[in-house]
Amino acid sequence: MSDSTLFRGGTVVNALRTWRADVLVVGPKIIAVGEGLDAPAGARIIDAGGAYVMPGGVDPHTHMELPFMGTVSKDDFFTGTAAAAAGGTTTIIDFVIPAPGESLMHALDTWRTRAAKAAADYSFHMAITWWSDAVREEMGEVTKQGVTSFKHFMAYKGAIMVDDAVLVQSFIRARDLGAICTVHAEHGDLVAHLQGEIFARGITGPEGHPLSRPPEVEGEASNRALRIAEVIGVPLYVVHTSCSDAMDPIARAQSEGQCAFGEALIQHLIVDDSVYRNPDWNTAAHHVMSPPFRSREHQAALWRGLQSGVLSVVGTDHCVFDTAQKRVGLGDFRKIPNGTGGIEDRMSVLWHHGVGTGRLTPSQFVALTSTNAARIFNCHPQKGAIQVGSDADIVVWDPKKTRTISAKTQHQKNDFNVFEGMTVTGNAAVTMSRGKILWQNDQLQATQGWGQFVARKPFADYAQALKLRNALAAPSAVVRKDAHS
Ligand code: URP
Ligand code: ZN
Ligand code: ZN
Repeated sequence: MSDSTLFRGGTVVNALRTWRADVLVVGPKIIAVGEGLDAPAGARIIDAGGAYVMPGGVDPHTHMELPFMGTVSKDDFFTGTAAAAAGGTTTIIDFVIPAPGESLMHALDTWRTRAAKAAADYSFHMAITWWSDAVREEMGEVTKQGVTSFKHFMAYKGAIMVDDAVLVQSFIRARDLGAICTVHAEHGDLVAHLQGEIFARGITGPEGHPLSRPPEVEGEASNRALRIAEVIGVPLYVVHTSCSDAMDPIARAQSEGQCAFGEALIQHLIVDDSVYRNPDWNTAAHHVMSPPFRSREHQAALWRGLQSGVLSVVGTDHCVFDTAQKRVGLGDFRKIPNGTGGIEDRMSVLWHHGVGTGRLTPSQFVALTSTNAARIFNCHPQKGAIQVGSDADIVVWDPKKTRTISAKTQHQKNDFNVFEGMTVTGNAAVTMSRGKILWQNDQLQATQGWGQFVARKPFADYAQALKLRNALAAPSAVVRKDAHS
């Protein structure tokens, strides 16, 4: 058989257009998109009749094999990217998180080693967890290595949290490098204070977790980070926006012309805060993540944010811990490892609850699950597009295919799923990564090491525009004839 594949008879969905077309792949690339394409001799033919042919999903927020809160997240780069492929996602962007004091390049090497077993493509963000002249220098080297986004945790006090002084220094350096900054927006000092207060009140179970992280705590940090970014003139992406308190400042920033982006998580869109009052400790603890799940009013606001474009991306923050790991926090909610999963289910759950309810169009779905992340993190159109020259990361999406989500049948490496028992209509029938089929007939054909690192360049189009704006807005001194220096 040749290394060609023809997707025949489907409806191609890109972020800006949906139309009937065939897609021809040779080797790792898409080489033709159009009606009535001929198949080269020996080509594999995939019948996409009745289905959508979409760019593979890009999840820009994952934590594979992350050492965190005294343990390590369960999915590694192989199991995590394989599970992703089963759900239609073909690229992840994971966070390199140096321990405070650790060299950025050393941490990047560690993540490169871990990621070498990935079954699908991956890129990295770099977290800034401390500050020194060496960190400033290394941000330049990291950028040259294709890591052009820097993450800042405004929470997790005493661990990876950074204060405003670090935000300012790092934002300035990122701006000058043409990189984008991202933030986990929660007021870490306030969280630490509330955790202590709630624990002292005798609330030791998982229900203490959301009480220590109310929406105001997230809203304050989102607004603060946005204001700092605006003054410095750097693009900012607010990760896992969970409530209107955090989203409204993004909307305001955008309406004032600021270069600001917001991310929602599929978990926050679907699961509400009633889970923390589940009488079963394990179930409640499995929902401990930060920011926590919110009320239905906040969820409705997030959906409006997706529809209006205030929020550009739906990610997962995939960071799973099994029951034994969660139980370390029995008797003290502050010790429950923070994190939930969703990489396998992100696309089908968003399709079912978004496109399946008329809240989103198929093109909006592609924008939110693939194209926007690829554009913001500057790997478009290599990723996130069905077009000539793009990587052949393709999903045949069957809008009628039904599946009931369960930890018992998932490919994610965990004994829990926050969407347990949910039946979703609209699922990946075939997933292709750079010309190789990873998922077909409900079977994974994932290979360790197939995934490649996606290097990203600095100065995405919006960063170039912002650079010009910054230059034009640069203040100047008033020249006075009678001034004495
Ligand atoms: O609870 C979460 N979100 N765990 C993963 C680390 C983070 O904050 O993104
Ligand atoms: Zn976070
Ligand atoms: Zn995260």
